[in-house]
Amino acid sequence: MRIILDCDPGHDDAFAILLATASKEIELLGVTTVVGNSYLENTTKNARTVLDLFDMDIPVFAGCEKPLIRDIIVAPDIHGKSGLEGAQLPSAKRPIEKAHAVDFMAQMLTKYSDIILVPTGPLTNVALFMLRYPHLVKHINSIVLMGGGIAFGNVTPVAEFNIFADPEAAKIVLNSNVPIVMAPLDVTHQVVVTEKEISKMRRLGFKFDLLADLLAFFKSTYKKVFNIDGVPLHDPCTVMYLLHPEIFEVKEYHVDVETRGELTYGQTVVDVWRTSGKVPNAKVMLKADSERFFDVFFEKLSQLKGV
Ligand code: RIB
Ligand code: CA
Repeated sequence: MRIILDCDPGHDDAFAILLATASKEIELLGVTTVVGNSYLENTTKNARTVLDLFDMDIPVFAGCEKPLIRDIIVAPDIHGKSGLEGAQLPSAKRPIEKAHAVDFMAQMLTKYSDIILVPTGPLTNVALFMLRYPHLVKHINSIVLMGGGIAFGNVTPVAEFNIFADPEAAKIVLNSNVPIVMAPLDVTHQVVVTEKEISKMRRLGFKFDLLADLLAFFKSTYKKVFNIDGVPLHDPCTVMYLLHPEIFEVKEYHVDVETRGELTYGQTVVDVWRTSGKVPNAKVMLKADSERFFDVFFEKLSQLKGV
């Protein structure tokens, strides 16, 4: 599977990158970055830092530094000021590629017609790609994204961060007719890192000690902000779906995004009971087999040992 991972590292984005690079089933063509958990300069630096950690030969392309229309929001309360607080990681050495993320997507989608886009941050880059290169949209095999919520949000009562950070972009993507698989908070909160997973990570060896430190920080901010004792591993759910879709229960629903609501701005409106009469446009992940998830997660990450 050829993928482009479009992300805003971000602790969980970092583990989505690692899971993708550790999986032989996946050809990671490149990592593109977007403003989200932190400013573009930070998310781009963090992506490079993570790839440098295991010396992965994957190029990094910077994308949009602000949302299409709304003002920038970042998440220092969750990911720290740098966007990847909590571990003494060696500083990024690899360069930022010259091409803009959107132009890299266009180059790859001109060359290949089976690419899966895996966005794990706000959808600004993907939406801008669709606006700038409409003739290439049909070359996208599918989009497997982390974002949205059916029953709840995490930035407002109804809006999840990736969507709320650029609702207009999310609306463009969800109405693009590209096959979409969506991992909302309802499923990512079933895949929770606790002390058990953190100590298992530590036991994998030195570099994994640093990764365990990242998880410990991420878990601490979720305790502080949401008062929950485990941290959902949101973004890796996308890559895990590519590797083992059977780990997830999915249903097809029509999903759209509210861009004008006072209380509901950024909400993913999921038509569970088909009251809208609109044809489903997304496969929505509803359930995850958490035990199987972490079995595969650690099996894959341990492939990085000795790298
Ligand atoms: O709401 C969770 C999502 O927002 C995750 O992708 C996390 O990395 C943040 O970007
Ligand atoms: Ca993210």
